[in-house]
Amino acid sequence: MARCFVTRRIPGGALDRLAAEHEVDLWEDRLPPPREELIAHASQAEGLLTQLTDRIDPEVIAASPRLRAIANYAVGYENIDVDEATARGIAVGNTPGVLTETTADLAFALLLAAARRLVEADRQVRRGDWVTWEPEGLLGRDVHGGTLGIVGFGRIGKAVASRGEGFGMSVLHNSRSGGLPLRELLERSDFVSLHAPLTPETRGLIGEDELRLMKPTAILVNTARGQLVHTDALTRALREGWIGGAALDVTDPEPLPADHPLLAAPNLTITPHIGSDTAPTREAMADMAVDNLLASLAGRPMPNGVNAIPRSP
Ligand code: DGY
Repeated sequence: MARCFVTRRIPGGALDRLAAEHEVDLWEDRLPPPREELIAHASQAEGLLTQLTDRIDPEVIAASPRLRAIANYAVGYENIDVDEATARGIAVGNTPGVLTETTADLAFALLLAAARRLVEADRQVRRGDWVTWEPEGLLGRDVHGGTLGIVGFGRIGKAVASRGEGFGMSVLHNSRSGGLPLRELLERSDFVSLHAPLTPETRGLIGEDELRLMKPTAILVNTARGQLVHTDALTRALREGWIGGAALDVTDPEPLPADHPLLAAPNLTITPHIGSDTAPTREAMADMAVDNLLASLAGRPMPNGVNAIPRSP
């Protein structure tokens, strides 16, 4: 039996399966464990079940001599220093695939909401300002017939592309392995949706130069990682009308403080990083993360491992 530190409660019955085989040390708070608590609990653990909000860096890894497995409850794993974990023989796993369609649904929901000004419309009704049917009411943009530019053409990017095709859009894409140059995609698209992973190459991918290439009517959708976009440049782009709007599920920083200037910018639709947030998907992620831990602690490769660790004898 191994000791596993689970840094937040997760939905469904997956933790019961973990607890049936191992000792579970569960952090019960809504907020992530503060740094010193993370280190104190990890230092006693052989397995970690982590969230994107837990930074598992060389300091945490060095403080955890018994650690053998880290299962991240996310498809992204930039919060974990995988090279350091690999060097110390620690397996790292993620939860790919199960959240693809759910995240693509949210990207498209944001695109539609921004194009048709749904949040403004809802607020108008609630404040009693729906006084009549108005010929020039909340004039939005058409989604059908528009051009959708997908940046990052992996699983989620492709799933958003198929939604765009279903809406009669022309779909362009840009990725490491092909598609259009980013510059051309930005110039031609009515909607730009980001789906690249966060890497040193993609950090700050969309800054002032890129925003200025976009059409003044175009809408930027980001359900990937906030750090792909320069927040200050985006704030100016919205204030000064370089682009038509932004619909964001992720930001930099995250969470965004309530008094952050981006929140005061016009034409912004925003949600709190809920791309994978449906009950079935979050439960499937829980199962995958626990399966990764159970396999690794039993000396088997993780079903969804991101590094290659030699099998335990
Ligand atoms: C991920 O999995 O990387 C998402 O951002 C959270 O579900």
